Amino acid sequence: MTGGPLVVLVGPMGSGKSTVGGVLARRLGVPYRDTDADIVAAQGREISDIFVDEGEPYFRELERAAVAAAVAEHTGVLALGGGAVLDGGTRALLAGLPVAYLSMDVEEAVRRVGLGAARPLLAVNPRRQWRELMEARRHLYTEVARVVVATDDRTPEEVAQAVLDAL
Ligand code: S3P
Repeated sequence: MTGGPLVVLVGPMGSGKSTVGGVLARRLGVPYRDTDADIVAAQGREISDIFVDEGEPYFRELERAAVAAAVAEHTGVLALGGGAVLDGGTRALLAGLPVAYLSMDVEEAVRRVGLGAARPLLAVNPRRQWRELMEARRHLYTEVARVVVATDDRTPEEVAQAVLDAL
C-alpha cells in the first residue's frame, strides 16, 4: 500500500460526488470523506456563512488546507467541493492521484440544481450562470482528472461502477 486516497471525486455541485462517493466507499469497504464537511466541522459554521463573512478567497485557502490534510491522511474515498479545482495549490496537491471527474452537461445541471434557494449565484439566469461556470471550470476538472465519467443518464450505482471500471 502506498497510502493516499483510493479515489478522489471532483466535479460541479450536483454531479453526485457525495452520493457516488458513498456508493464507492461501501463497495470498496473503505471510509468516505468530504472536504466540505471537514471545513464545516473545523470552522463550526456553514460554508455559505464563510463565503458571506470572509469571502471566497479565504474559503479557497481553508479548502486547500483541508484537501492537503485529507490527501495526506485519508486512504478511502474522498470528495472535494465543486470549486476546489479553481485553486492552483489545490490542483497541485492532486497530481498523481486517482482523480475521477464526474461530468454533467448544462441542461442536466439546470434540472438537478436549478435555482436552488441556497445557491443565490444561480438565481438570476440559472442556464446562463451554469454555462459560464462550466466554461470556466471544465478544463480545470479535466486537468486534474485521470478519468472523466459522464453522469447525465446514469444512476449513482452506474456512475460508481463506471469510475471503478475506468480507474
Ligand atoms: C462550491 C461547491 C460546494 C462548496 C461551496 C463552493 C463551488 O461544494 O464547496 O459551496 O464553488 O462550486 P459541492 O460541489 O459539494 O456542492
